[in-house]
Amino acid sequence: MGISIHRYDAVIVGAGLAGLAAARELESRGKHVCVLTKLHPLRSHSGAAQGGINAALKGDDSTQSHIFDTIKGSDYLANQEAVELMCSSAPETIRWVEHMGAAFSREKDGTIAQRPFGGQSFPRTCYAKDRTGLTLLQTLFEQAQRDGVEFWDEWYVADIIYSGNEEKIVSGVVAYNIKTGQKGIFYAKAILFATGGYARSYAINSNAHANTGDGLSIVARRGIPLKDMEFVQFHPTGLAGTGILISEAARGEGGRLFNSDGERFMEKYAPEKMELGPRDLVSRSITREILAGKGVGKDKDAVYLDLTHLGAEKIMSRLPELRDLALTFLGLDMIKEPILIAPTAHYSMGGIPTDVHGRVRYDIEHNIKSFYAAGECACVSVHGANRLGANSLLEAVFYGRHVGQTIIEDLEKNKFLTHKEPDINDAAAMLKEIDGLISSCGSERVPKLRSELQKTMTENAGVFRTEEKLLKQKEIIKKLKERYKNVGIDDRSKVFNTDLQEAIELGHMLDFSTFIVEGAILRKESRGSHFRDDFPKRDDENFLNHTYCYLNEDGSVKIDYKPVTIGKYKPTERTY
Ligand code: FUM
Repeated sequence: MGISIHRYDAVIVGAGLAGLAAARELESRGKHVCVLTKLHPLRSHSGAAQGGINAALKGDDSTQSHIFDTIKGSDYLANQEAVELMCSSAPETIRWVEHMGAAFSREKDGTIAQRPFGGQSFPRTCYAKDRTGLTLLQTLFEQAQRDGVEFWDEWYVADIIYSGNEEKIVSGVVAYNIKTGQKGIFYAKAILFATGGYARSYAINSNAHANTGDGLSIVARRGIPLKDMEFVQFHPTGLAGTGILISEAARGEGGRLFNSDGERFMEKYAPEKMELGPRDLVSRSITREILAGKGVGKDKDAVYLDLTHLGAEKIMSRLPELRDLALTFLGLDMIKEPILIAPTAHYSMGGIPTDVHGRVRYDIEHNIKSFYAAGECACVSVHGANRLGANSLLEAVFYGRHVGQTIIEDLEKNKFLTHKEPDINDAAAMLKEIDGLISSCGSERVPKLRSELQKTMTENAGVFRTEEKLLKQKEIIKKLKERYKNVGIDDRSKVFNTDLQEAIELGHMLDFSTFIVEGAILRKESRGSHFRDDFPKRDDENFLNHTYCYLNEDGSVKIDYKPVTIGKYKPTERTY
């Protein structure tokens, strides 16, 4: 089977909301676009987002309030220009998807229904029951397909075609078809990564199996930095034992948290906001209760989430999927009894550094030509050290579309356009590593290495961190990387070789996990989702900085910092 060659105006990697929004925007403006995805688009992880999408639409709410809540929620690490851009475009973003057919839940007066979410001053989360992400994903997929976007489902992107010499430019990607083993080179004038997040490196997480951070490690291996990787969000309410998401909508609708003494413990930690404090605060509060021996369940490693007072009608009309999940995985009916929850690794604030329009940086201030990133894999950064719930769907749709518009502008200005295709042999060589892996006979096996990584990341780089635990984790990852060199694949076939795919993914997980840990070791303060028991205070004097982490050729890491640009919102103490 030879290597197939394809040419487009824009190649988008990832078919979640960010990728689809960009694809739709580009195709509707006459650009020839394809989307490569290792899944079917409707299986993208955006579809798992339950609770909603934020926009200041009505009542006393305002864009200014949305901007302020987001910046305060970020523990002042967010890029304020990016936050302003996203929040002020939020109402238009909602109208855009609604006009395409997204069916939001409604109030009696016909307006889009909105519920409260954590860290908000007003109820501003628009929702479609508890299936908001799926509703938006179906809408955008349908429209992108109707407009003529070409989808290459179940194609695994192995590398970017990157010239990192004087002129830094990305001119395509190399990929293989998971179904057949067919290899392909996809050249384009613009390449957009929308490859999703990296919380799968933790044992208890809410992420799809596919969220292995491939895009991030592909980029890092080319010498491009990753930004703020130490900031991993732990969602307060994952189902006990599995980490499956129980949406913040449950607390938005009135859910209450109790410990084993029957105490509504959020009174101690966030007396004003209670269960609707921001996620970092609520996750730490739950974990403190568990560590204090006030957990519930067989292993005392969960707390109660009680929704019984909402009544069957409200639960069935607003939270039907959540009820189903708790019934299926815990055998508990939230209409009749409290369910058991605990924090779960959920979202990646860090990622591929971009300017506010989605152009990827190769250092703290210079852009790579023709290369863009959007959505969870990107770090622009609108979420800083802690994302507010329901700002991720907004980021994915708004930034996906916005970066699509940036690409159109750049193509029309001919700014980053290249026709200089690299030698096909160079591109083909990038696929050789895969051939090497498929015939490897090493004695290590992927599932064992992966579960060691996930378990130890949860233990040592989780909700509470210390220098001692992080240094231990650094050594663990170093040893796992050594063992990975001796990994063996049992399946030698080319058809749906998940053994091969998981081996590649594990390599990615090991690389970006190093960045999480190294960034966390050096950040000797507590900010947002990054909490250091040994440095429990935020330290603006020394750490009001973004972390830029580079992978050296010998596998070691170099770290650089860039001060956060502070706009009109000066850092103050965060109280809730
Ligand atoms: O809790 C949730 O429904 C998740 C939403 C989000 O992460 O934004």
